[in-house]
Amino acid sequence: MYVPFARKYRPRFFREVVGQEVPVRVLKNAVKNDRVSHAYLFAGPRGVGKTTIARILAKSLNCLNPQEGEPCGKCENCQEIDRGNFPDLIEMDAASNRGIDDIRAVREAVSYTPIKGKFKVYIIDEAHMLTKEAFNALLKTLEEPPPRTVFILCTTEYEKILPTILSRCQRIIFGRVSEDKVVEYLKRICELEGLECEEDALKSIAQASEGCMRDAASLLDQASVLGEGKITREIVENFLGILSAGKVRDFMKLLLNSQVDSALTQLNELYRKGYNLSKFWESLEEEVRRAVLVRSMKDPSGVVENPESYEEFKNYPLEALLYLENLVNRGRLEARSRPAIKAYELAVIKSTIIKEILPISQALTSGVQPSSPEGEGKAERKDTLEDRLRELLSPVAYKALSGAQRVKRDGVEVFQIDEDTYRTFKEEFENLKKKLPEVEFEVQKKKDQKESTTSLF
Ligand SMILES: Nc1ncnc2c1ncn2[C@@H]1O[C@H](COP(=O)(O)OP(=O)(O)O)[C@@H](O)[C@H]1O
Ligand SMILES: [Mg+2]
Ligand SMILES: [Zn+2]
Repeated sequence: MYVPFARKYRPRFFREVVGQEVPVRVLKNAVKNDRVSHAYLFAGPRGVGKTTIARILAKSLNCLNPQEGEPCGKCENCQEIDRGNFPDLIEMDAASNRGIDDIRAVREAVSYTPIKGKFKVYIIDEAHMLTKEAFNALLKTLEEPPPRTVFILCTTEYEKILPTILSRCQRIIFGRVSEDKVVEYLKRICELEGLECEEDALKSIAQASEGCMRDAASLLDQASVLGEGKITREIVENFLGILSAGKVRDFMKLLLNSQVDSALTQLNELYRKGYNLSKFWESLEEEVRRAVLVRSMKDPSGVVENPESYEEFKNYPLEALLYLENLVNRGRLEARSRPAIKAYELAVIKSTIIKEILPISQALTSGVQPSSPEGEGKAERKDTLEDRLRELLSPVAYKALSGAQRVKRDGVEVFQIDEDTYRTFKEEFENLKKKLPEVEFEVQKKKDQKESTTSLF
């Protein structure tokens, strides 16, 4: 019989739990030191190990042979709990048994001492779903806890638990499992199952599961079926309908380079293939955000994971990235009030402007002269310096320059500009100097207050 990975690889010992270091340490120590509370509240998102750990706790409390707070896994009690037929472990799902009668049943049952084990353990799943009456009944039980009874209330919605209940429980908070740990866990399953896998594929799964181990395991399950034992990034991306961060960054480059045709084609291809466009746009926004951070920080390592992946975006002027950020952000907002694909298409089309207002091509192709003979010919017909500047520079560079202080020295026009502006438009300014010997630049250490370029956005 086929057992899904999520069930097959459910941890049976504290040591097998991935992440959740704090809950595991607290509970293991409580068992070891004989200081177990009579009521716990396990709060956290779904699929991160609440039920799993509740069962392990039940096991270690009833194990005939516990070792340092860990159950032995071999004794009768441990095995019965694993099989789900231990009489002193009662699991209730409040989502389906919401009524007061069920809680009455709990209260009555509680009056009996454990049948077989040392502790009677009640696991009440989705405890926030209990009715108010049921909560109150439970409260009475919690006020006068019967001996050798442990209640474990699990919830994904901590805020919905009444304060009176909260105050009687020891709270244990479960967090999402980090992406790295999810990947590690998936890798282990692949090894045990003899599955071939690409690291990128596992990363995509981990990303999509957002720290939920149950989702991660079942996505891996699906991928292994689809890939017939081989888990590739392509398969995963296809069936998840998501693109890897690397592919999203490639798309981002299309926008920055104003390659509108390719970008629109790709966008529509994703749409036709049934990709989740809003997820795609979300990760585009995130990638742009990271690129902007890396572009503007001296040491982004504390803020952005793998900053080296964004290194190439340092070649783009910050203005271009900020403009793109604005564009993508607006695209997301507009997707709420009209068909998403249309909103995204429009955003892509708007990226044409990046080419017009920013000297990206110069910034990218260092050494290549962007000007054409045609441009120079036109320039000859102009007579004032101002006209020539306007002619030879991109609008943004021109604007930056016109905001600068200037002095005339021996017939040479000297622009005093701050370091940042100079660096941003270096290619253009160098080119300009070659064409207009009557122009010089003086780079100022201190940043000029009036930053004309910012007004664009
Ligand atoms: N921390 C974890 N470590 C390893 N596997 C986990 C973990 N959390 C969840 N799982 C996997 O997900 C499945 C569901 O976990 P469960 O404990 O029922 O989640 P919850 O009760 O928090 O919704 C388990 O069978 C197991 O395969
Ligand atoms: Mg659960
Ligand atoms: Zn045991």
